[in-house]
Amino acid sequence: MQKKNPTKQKYNHPQKSISGERQLEKDDRIEKKQFHRKKFQSSYITFILNWFFDRLPITRFLKNNLTHYYLPSNLNFWYIFGSLSLFLLALQILSGIWLMMFYTPTPEAAFNSIEMMMRDVPYGWLFRYLHTTGASFFFIIIYCHIFRSLLYGSYKKPRELVWIIGVTLYIALLSEAFIGYLLPWGQMSYWASQIATSLWASIPGVGPYLMLWMRGNSVVSSETLHRFFALHTTGIPLFLLFLVWLHLKALRKVGSNNPDGISHSLKTHKKFLTKLPFHPYYTIKDLFALAVFLVIFCAVVFFTPEMEGYFIEPNNFIPANPLITPSHIVPLWYLAPFYGMLCIIPNKLFGILTMILAVVILFTLPWLDRSPINSLRYRGRYSRTALGIFTISFGLLSYLSMTVLTPIKITFMQFLAINYFLFFYLMPIYTSYEKNKSFF
Ligand code: HEM
Repeated sequence: MQKKNPTKQKYNHPQKSISGERQLEKDDRIEKKQFHRKKFQSSYITFILNWFFDRLPITRFLKNNLTHYYLPSNLNFWYIFGSLSLFLLALQILSGIWLMMFYTPTPEAAFNSIEMMMRDVPYGWLFRYLHTTGASFFFIIIYCHIFRSLLYGSYKKPRELVWIIGVTLYIALLSEAFIGYLLPWGQMSYWASQIATSLWASIPGVGPYLMLWMRGNSVVSSETLHRFFALHTTGIPLFLLFLVWLHLKALRKVGSNNPDGISHSLKTHKKFLTKLPFHPYYTIKDLFALAVFLVIFCAVVFFTPEMEGYFIEPNNFIPANPLITPSHIVPLWYLAPFYGMLCIIPNKLFGILTMILAVVILFTLPWLDRSPINSLRYRGRYSRTALGIFTISFGLLSYLSMTVLTPIKITFMQFLAINYFLFFYLMPIYTSYEKNKSFF
């Protein structure tokens, strides 16, 4: 006998067939069961979520910082570098934790532990190159971030504190990078640390004590390596995280600047500036920027991680030898402009003071700039020329500091260093007297 298909019956003659009616009832029961199960599950999940969020204000946090955090609608390309800096900070911390699992902080074992990591540990090379390339990219991104602040006058009132915390972050980052460079205990690590720590001894009075305190010994030794390791892996990263939190809190209080440099709290300008919530408008922009950044970053990590000696110097693939000084000691590119200032000044003490001044002077920028206009878009020709000369001088000084110095190069670098300082010293004059463009 041919077996009847209940489903077919249901659809062909539901009202005529008894088994079809039964099937319908069965389907109804199943549907009801599923409905109640779903209802129970969703109420259960809602219950757990409510319980969780009542105790931890995550939704409020997301609302305050993403969906209900409003920013000027005209933020452009230059505003991606803040978020990228955050990404790189996270990458450095995570890859650093991984490196710490295999690194041994003693002069006898440090170099070999890194070699072992590169050759024997699965994907060890990848994590190390992510960390070394990440350090250089961090500085590229930070320099763009600082340049944006100079372009749009983001350091001016009311964002002075955001700027001051930013400069402190910059100094902390330079220290973190410099201290990390000793850890591989290669030739360049050893000799660069030897020079950098001995410099401080020329400060009259406290100098020799300062040097001893930094090294933990009269020479760069196991004690130096231990304190540098502690500072690089714990001390400075914690300080950096605290500073980043302060930086963002201070920015939140006064609000972001924008390429027009016009405060969106001013009533008269309201018609020009609308505001947009951070999510989804800027999260999408930042994610796109991150994707582009990752393509470039990965290309470097996978194809040229040493970047022709700019990201990792060839001399650092030779174990440290306190008896052989390398013929040419080169600083890392991001420390180069400051090291360059030290080299071109014959007096050591004066050289150190100039180097310190070159960084510390950044703190005073909000008070040196007397212009009533924030953004360079509407400033006169003096400010534009000054920023152009400053940027070129800083770039050339960095490049030349990494080459072998000749008397002619030293004279040119002295000229570049003077340009660097004139940007700041002359700022109160050229920003007060220049003719600005009108916004209206
Ligand atoms: C770890 C390092 C840093 C991180 C993670 C960081 C992060 C950020 C973020 C997320 C923003 C908001 C988004 C943006 O405006 O791009 C911002 C704004 C700002 N940052 Fe940084 N920053 C760092 C270092 C610095 C440094 C070194 C300076 C200056 C020397 C600086 C100066 C500023 C200023 C002035 C603003 C306000 C910009 C505006 O409103 O136009 N930051 N930073």
